[in-house]
Amino acid sequence: MNALLPKMDHHWLPFTNNRLFRQEPQIFARAEGVRYWTPEGREILDGSAGLFCCAAGHGRREIADAVHRQLMTLDYTPHFQRAANVSFEFAERLAGLLPEGIDRLFFGNSGSEAVDSAVKIVLAYHKARGQSQRTRFVSRNWAYHGVNMGGTSLAGMVNNRRDFGAVTFDAVHMRHTWTEEQRFTRGQPDTGADRADDLEDLCRLYGGETIAAVFIEPIAGSIGTIVPPKGYLEKIRAICDRYGIVLVFDEVITGFGRTGAAFAAQEFAVTPDVITMAKALTNGVIPMSAVAVKREMQAAVIDAAEGDRPELFHGYTYSAHPVACAAGLAALDIYRDEDLFGRGKALSGHFLDTVFGLRNLPQVVDLRGYGMLAGIQLKPGATPGAKGSIAQRRLFDAGLHVKATGDALIFAPALVAGTDDIDRMGDILRRILGDADL
Ligand SMILES: Cc1ncc(COP(=O)(O)O)c(C=O)c1O
Repeated sequence: MNALLPKMDHHWLPFTNNRLFRQEPQIFARAEGVRYWTPEGREILDGSAGLFCCAAGHGRREIADAVHRQLMTLDYTPHFQRAANVSFEFAERLAGLLPEGIDRLFFGNSGSEAVDSAVKIVLAYHKARGQSQRTRFVSRNWAYHGVNMGGTSLAGMVNNRRDFGAVTFDAVHMRHTWTEEQRFTRGQPDTGADRADDLEDLCRLYGGETIAAVFIEPIAGSIGTIVPPKGYLEKIRAICDRYGIVLVFDEVITGFGRTGAAFAAQEFAVTPDVITMAKALTNGVIPMSAVAVKREMQAAVIDAAEGDRPELFHGYTYSAHPVACAAGLAALDIYRDEDLFGRGKALSGHFLDTVFGLRNLPQVVDLRGYGMLAGIQLKPGATPGAKGSIAQRRLFDAGLHVKATGDALIFAPALVAGTDDIDRMGDILRRILGDADL
């Protein structure tokens, strides 16, 4: 028995095979910059910015200090009929980063809560405009929108929905945009935009006037980085406009510089009506999420409220937690002062060179990437997901943390990484994925 390891009986790890984990624990004890260290002091490079959330790297003193200050000044405020200055300040700063007009912010504590909140806000908006018949939601195959009821209903990954039918609502799915001829495409594929026609088909099948919203990850992250084909998001936007459907971009992964701009909406120059965000909102260090809503959508809901009732019967004890807001403000200061989004954009070329340099390895069957987000599709093993699981454990042993979903690795280092860090991560990937017997 390893004396440095804790007793592991009681904490039930999420999205984990707990039996396997106890046999081969992967435990972090410390983090700084783009590195973790195990309890034994072994260095593990962070190839996924934690879970794509620590954009400015680990151990940022500015954020720790801001959190400490806030805790000692005003540690908690209820936000039902009460508020604190810090949340208004944070919302205003976020509004300055968002696309023009999508600047009313509703706060939650996780990406999943942001998605559920967006679902309810959309329904409230349609009701306020006398369109309560819009109750159907559209998502896509392979989509990941978190694991609460909204996200489970919208889920396009079978394992995330298979056992939970009893708690899901009516969502219909378009196809994902990946096609065979896109293999090894760097950036946006030339083909596949016609898959947006699936939305037109669903409008014809169900009646466009019954559809409340379409949820889209501009780059489908969790499935392994599916980059939108050229023209695809534009077509989706046009169809939503034609049928009066709300377009929601779920930017929980793509927000805060991952694609090169603050939000993918700006990078791809397609403006949705609602944007969900979490993860790098606070550099990942305090749980927090937000839904950004178009001004006129919020105005419609507020104007429709009767008397002095709340206009939206929805919210969380920890919505806009002052400590999370303080962490978020400090994170935004770092992003601005270090021009982090520009830095990520500048690093992307080297990063994608490294990724696409893995092309001929025996375990690699596809590569996809945009900005500082890449997917490495592995040659399948005995059962779906088995190769991904083995690969991520072998990489960990070799000193690299990378998130695996099924047989895809999601490579997305912090935007503060240096080219030498990327090179070292690339060396480890090449070594492990170069093993034909993996
Ligand atoms: C696009 C997207 N939406 C929602 C979520 C859920 O976020 P959380 O795990 O914070 O609930 C994620 C998490 O990875 C995500 O990638």
